[in-house]
Amino acid sequence: MQLIDGNAIAASIIEELTTEVSALPGKKPVIAVIRVGEDPASVSYVRKKQKTAERIGIGSRLHVLPEDISKEDLFAQIDALNADSDVSGILVQAPLPKHINETETFNRVNPAKDVDGFNTLNIGKLCQEDPSGFVACTPAGIVQLIQRSGIETNGKHVVVLGRSQIVGKPAALLMIQKACPGNATVTICHSRTTDLPSITRQADVLIAAIGRPNFVTEDMVKDEVNVIDVGINRVEDSNKKSGYRLVGDVDFDAVATKAAHITPVPGGVGPMTVAMLMHNTLLAFKASQASQA
Ligand code: GUN
Repeated sequence: MQLIDGNAIAASIIEELTTEVSALPGKKPVIAVIRVGEDPASVSYVRKKQKTAERIGIGSRLHVLPEDISKEDLFAQIDALNADSDVSGILVQAPLPKHINETETFNRVNPAKDVDGFNTLNIGKLCQEDPSGFVACTPAGIVQLIQRSGIETNGKHVVVLGRSQIVGKPAALLMIQKACPGNATVTICHSRTTDLPSITRQADVLIAAIGRPNFVTEDMVKDEVNVIDVGINRVEDSNKKSGYRLVGDVDFDAVATKAAHITPVPGGVGPMTVAMLMHNTLLAFKASQASQA
């Protein structure tokens, strides 16, 4: 069994980006992050994104807005950042409060600054395999993990657990692309799938993104499966100072005994999401420079 070290792979991508950013003459990329409210997971994710940006030499701006902000005021903030030529990329951290529609919010971001890849236009470009769009960071990170671990997807059966807009659907689209990684036969499973284990047992590559702790058990996979565990679930643990520990959607210890490759949680997909956000921010910056030239 080979552990896929997301921290190490993300560190190499960050190093590559740092080299590229430091070689830029003059202006540097800037990412603007909007956080609405004080959700503790969002506070921690946003801090991580800012720290990584700073390490690479990408400027970062944080806009913290109150939980009860109106849609109009939130959109005014997005519009101001859309119009600001110093800002290369904009990220509105999810989840948003219930009174604000997330899709509408993501679509308010200028598609050319949508480094999250959540915009309808960018999802459409992904469908059409148009490389000028932004690919959502977690699925883009999954592709990098697969590629940099030498996992073959061409002609293989990739099973995706979960149909979310942010992970399941775009990950499936990437795996059917005429590309490497890609060229896979893809099955998407979800909460209404019947006899799930009979499908997951066919998987050469299993991408688990359902948000249920330790859901994938040893009897649900075949020998030599390659497992990408996207789940980040908090489970109570009185031995931890925080009172919880993080586990994935896969029962790691049991499934690892059968797997050819497997990502740990934490330290698998998580760090890749941040690295790919920085990658997208640099792409946005370069595209805007080219359009101004
Ligand atoms: N919340 C959890 N993951 C993400 C992400 O990748 N982007 C944004 N904007 N919010 C998130």
